[in-house]
Amino acid sequence: MNVRIPDHISTLKSYHPGKSIAQLKEEFGWKRMAILWNNENTLGYSPRSQASVMEAYEKINYYPDPFSTDLKRRLALKFGKTPEEIIMGNGSESILMLAIRGLCSGEDEFLTSRGSFLIIYNWAKINNVRCVSMPMTDGYAFDLDAIKSRINRNTKIIYLANVNNPTGTMISKSDLKAFIQSIPDHILVIVDEAYFEFSVALSDDYPNSLTFDFPNVLTLRTFSKAYGIAGVRLGYGIGHPKVIDAMTKSKLTFEPSTLAQAAGIGALQDEEFLERTIENNTKGLNYFYTEFEKLGVKYIPSYGNFVMTVWPSKEQVTEVFNKLMKRGVLVRPLAGNLEHCIRISVGRPDENEWLVENLG
Ligand SMILES: Cc1ncc(COP(=O)(O)O)c(C=O)c1O
Repeated sequence: MNVRIPDHISTLKSYHPGKSIAQLKEEFGWKRMAILWNNENTLGYSPRSQASVMEAYEKINYYPDPFSTDLKRRLALKFGKTPEEIIMGNGSESILMLAIRGLCSGEDEFLTSRGSFLIIYNWAKINNVRCVSMPMTDGYAFDLDAIKSRINRNTKIIYLANVNNPTGTMISKSDLKAFIQSIPDHILVIVDEAYFEFSVALSDDYPNSLTFDFPNVLTLRTFSKAYGIAGVRLGYGIGHPKVIDAMTKSKLTFEPSTLAQAAGIGALQDEEFLERTIENNTKGLNYFYTEFEKLGVKYIPSYGNFVMTVWPSKEQVTEVFNKLMKRGVLVRPLAGNLEHCIRISVGRPDENEWLVENLG
């Protein structure tokens, strides 16, 4: 094969999601399972979302509305924004990619922390943008001072995951505001709030970056977590119309799909499901903390729908992971500077109990 693959692509580590749950189930013959590896909503999704998708299905012979008009209008109303300040995409992962694609060129750099959401490092690389990542604090949080100290004239985007996946740590209201105020306003600060709905319920000090008045902030949110529709792929970004316009020009014309738009419209109409999800999460986290303390498992308190456990060594992580896998408990062993850690998502009470039973 003589087609040359560019270096920035050939050197990428490809993302191997591994075997499917169906394959694993067959291999291990699980009778009981706990799917706690992807920070999904294992309570399911809203029936309003399902009904809305079924109705929209009637029109799938037509292309989707490229502007997601109805959905944007509803979100604009909910957040006191205008539709021009909103972009919809195939998950917030897509919005992040669009920010890099639509705003970076030449020597521009993407600055962030180590130990954050793995996909971001890849998207910078895929777009041939230099990604600079600073060490975390000892408490597994973003080190804002370290990030600030590394700003140079090429810094174009600073990415902050609040809360951070996989560590579960958060940046407080005053720290986030002071940080954004202190950096040059030609740098775009992406504040990824994928776990927003859980975080505001877990801490009064969790900042809602949509209430900030900084034109250089882009807030990312998703329907994949609290709204429980990860499978249809729907996320959004809210920021200055000029930034949103550049990103919109870079997006796939008909992203997100008709069914994703419909699922989101339905999901927004079901406060009861959202509240039930948030309550399940808060209770699940507290249950984990109590049981982990009894078992002597070290963990980092979390502001998302998952918790990072910390083990003495990578070898022990492999041992625990293999033991859990045999019993149908799927968790996420981490990589890089976090290879002594396992991330565990909050599931339904029966799943949480199955995890604890097998962890002991
Ligand atoms: C911090 C963070 N941002 C973004 C995402 C991507 O979510 P989406 O499903 O909307 O692409 C995730 C998913 O795990 C995440 O943890």
